[in-house]
Order: sequence, then structure tokens, then C-alpha cells
Amino acid sequence: NIFYLQTDGEPLIASLSLSVLAFCATYSMIRWLGSTFIKAGLKGKDMSKIQKREIPECMGAICAVVYLFVMLVFIPFPFYKDIVAATSGGGNKDIVFNEGEDVGDAVGRGRLLHRFPISKLASYLSATISLSVITLLGIGDDLFDIRWRHKFFIPAFASIPLLVVYFVDFGVTSIVVPIPLQPYLGELIDVGGFYYVYMASVAIFSPNSINILAGINGIEVAQSIVIAVLLAVNDCLYLLTPSYPHPATDSHLFSLYFLLPFLGVSFALLWHNWYPAKVFVGDTYCYFAGMVFVVVSILGHFSKTLILLLVPQIFNFVYSAPQLFGLVPCPRHRLPRFNARTGLLEPSVTAWTEDKQPKAVIGWGLKVLDKLKLLRVTVDEETGRFVETSNFTILNLWLVWRGPMREDRLAIEIVGTQIVLGLFGLFVRHGLALLIFKE
Ligand code: UD1
Ligand code: MG
Repeated sequence: NIFYLQTDGEPLIASLSLSVLAFCATYSMIRWLGSTFIKAGLKGKDMSKIQKREIPECMGAICAVVYLFVMLVFIPFPFYKDIVAATSGGGNKDIVFNEGEDVGDAVGRGRLLHRFPISKLASYLSATISLSVITLLGIGDDLFDIRWRHKFFIPAFASIPLLVVYFVDFGVTSIVVPIPLQPYLGELIDVGGFYYVYMASVAIFSPNSINILAGINGIEVAQSIVIAVLLAVNDCLYLLTPSYPHPATDSHLFSLYFLLPFLGVSFALLWHNWYPAKVFVGDTYCYFAGMVFVVVSILGHFSKTLILLLVPQIFNFVYSAPQLFGLVPCPRHRLPRFNARTGLLEPSVTAWTEDKQPKAVIGWGLKVLDKLKLLRVTVDEETGRFVETSNFTILNLWLVWRGPMREDRLAIEIVGTQIVLGLFGLFVRHGLALLIFKE
């Protein structure tokens, strides 16, 4: 793909360089600003250590700010050729511009154009607005600890600019029907406004699901890095296709421009947040990371692929549902319990007192989950009353299955599982999906 690198490759190289700069800036700012954050009250106790030291929290705010600066500085790069063409070559009559052809591609082939791709710029800007808004709201949450049921819908507001641009620019609300069903339903079904509800739901789900798969050092950042790398691999699969330019080239380049700096700031944060953590990421990071994935997948039209890569988060959310929706009491923290004697993590539990016992149906459900090894339930043998149940998170479930282990080992095993599932998801997307969907 030498041709590709000669023409469209330059912004990508700029993006890579800016991402390296973003890594360096974030790395040093986290080191420098730690004490300032503590002084401002942004700190948290590391609960799974013998000495429960207080360390700076909300370090994701540094990531987000560095990231947004980089995205602003980057604006001229992908539009450079369009800017030149639109200003100097304006009025040229001999443009060879095939119908349906991408503007950037035509410029890349050396043809003059006088039309600036304003919709591409609109996508880019709407994405930066969404990410700025989610950062603001995330910092608000870290400062004021907003209630779970209030903050749950925050990302939906941040997704409005994206959805508007999607509506104006793309507007496709039909879904492709799998080949076996096509004789009955036709090739496409138009789901209309529901498509926007679906996209808003993805926008709500992605940031929140990352925020609740949390509680051990490094896990929030590591899972986000895995998702970002897999999305970038997915982009590269399109860009390196032998039939370049693939029709989706532009949206996958766009996606890389947003993912590479994200990886830059995230690796810097992971460096400080990995076991034993010197800083916490805060909800700002979780919301911001989740929103980066939403932005690239909505504007790149591959939200289904994102869902494939969020399988561990979806499982954790569904599994958490009994506590999130109040069927089982949900303590403020559900992170695994640190056993100071062994230095290992054990499943944390919710205690059932004598006067607060589960309702009959729920008690039955808890026992079934216990039989299926999907929960650890302790029942008083004499009275038959519930004593405690392990908290409903995959971190605790993993400890139920695999026994007590050290904090970093748990993080590695969970992230390892996520990598395997994600690679399988991409295989499904690029291999199996072709059996039931036409490319
Ligand atoms: C989410 C989870 C909560 C979990 C918390 C841990 C739900 C509904 N909420 O809440 O159960 O306990 O994340 O992040 O599932 N902490 C550590 N070690 C870590 C990471 C965090 O001890 O490696 C503690 C620190 O005290 C830190 C606090 O967790 O200050 C941060 O919690 P926060 O992100 O505010 O919790 P939520 O996102 O609301
Ligand atoms: Mg959190």
C-alpha cells in the first residue's frame, strides 16, 4: 500500500507523532500534578493494600485535557489538502470527480477540487464537542460524587452532537438483514427513530459499563486500552485491504485519528495506575474512554463491532443487574475484599441481617445461582436464613471460581480473558459474519 501512504498517510503520521507527544505530556503531568490534586481534595484510599494510603484521584482529567488539546492541534492535518484545494485551486473547471467518490480520495489522486468537505469537518468537531462535554460531566462527578441513578444518563446528553451530525450527514436508519432471513424480510429493514434510540443507548452503556468494571488497580485503563487497540486493529484491516480504497476507508482513518492519541494518554495513565497504583483514574477517565469508543463507532458506522468488543462489560452489567436495580442491596463499593493476613483478594460480600432477608423469589434465585457456581451464598444451616452473598461483579465471580489471588494477577487474568474474547469477536466480525451478512 505504498500509494496509500504517499497520499492519505501523512495525517496518520502526524497523528502518530502527536500521540507520542500526548503520552509524554500526560506521563509527566500526572507526576507533577499529583500533589496539587490531593490538595484540591481529589484523592482516594487504596483499599486493597495493607497501608491504605491516600493517592491522587481523577487523573483521567489530565488524560482528557491533553487529548482534547491534541485533537484541536490536529484539526488542520486531515484537511490540509482540502484547505489548499479549496483556497488556491478554487474555480478550476476540470475536476474529475466520480459520483459517490470520497472528496479526500479524489484530492489524494492529485485532482483539484473546489469543494471543501464541510461534513467531514462537522463530524470531527461534533466528536470533540461530545468528548469535551463528557469530560466536564466526568470531572463534576469526581468532585461531587453524583448519585448513580442521576449520572447514568449523563452520556446521553454528550451524544446529542454526534446524533445530529449522523442525522444530517449519514441518516441511515436501516439495518442489514442476515442472508437466511432475507427471503422473508428483504435485504434491509428501516427501523427509523429506533436507530437513534439504539445509538443513544450505546452512548449511555459504553462509559457506564467501563466505570462499573472497576475496583482493582489498573483495570479501568487496561480494559479501555484493549478495546482501543482492537478497534484500531479493526480499522487497519480495512485500510490494508488489497482492494484499497475500501468504501469505508475514510471512516476508519477518522477512527484511527481519534484512537491513537487516546492510546497515547491511556498508556501514560496505566503506567501510574498499574499495581501498585500511584494514582486513581477517577470517573472522568471511564466516561471519557467509553465516549471515545462511542464517537468513533457511531461516526464510523461500526457500532455493532464495538458491541462485539464490549462482551466482558456487557456480561458484567447484566450480572450486576440485581444490585444495580435494587433486587439485592448494593453497597457503595463492591470491589473485592482485601485479606490483610494473606495479602490476597477474596470475593466481597453483602450481608443479610435477620430482619433484612431476601424475598422468597429472590432467595430462590440466589440459591439457583449458587448451584450454578455463579455466586457464593452462605446460609445459616440451622435457621436456613441467608448470611451473606458475594457481590455481583465479574471480579468477585472470578475470585469465586479461581480462589483468592493477588490484585495484579486478577487484573492480568481479567484483561487476558478480554483480549481472547475481543480477538474472537473480530474473527466473528470478519470471518463468520460474512456467512450471514454480505460485506
Ligand atoms: C464503581 C463501582 C463500585 C466500585 C468502584 C471502584 C458499581 C455500581 N460501582 O463505583 O462498586 O467499588 O467503582 O472503583 O459497580 N478504589 C480502590 N482501588 C482501585 C480502584 C478504586 O481502592 O484500584 C477505590 C478508591 O477508594 C477510590 C474509589 O474506589 O477512591 C473510586 O471509586 P469511584 O470510581 O468513585 O466509584 P464508582 O465509579 O462510583
Ligand atoms: Mg469509577
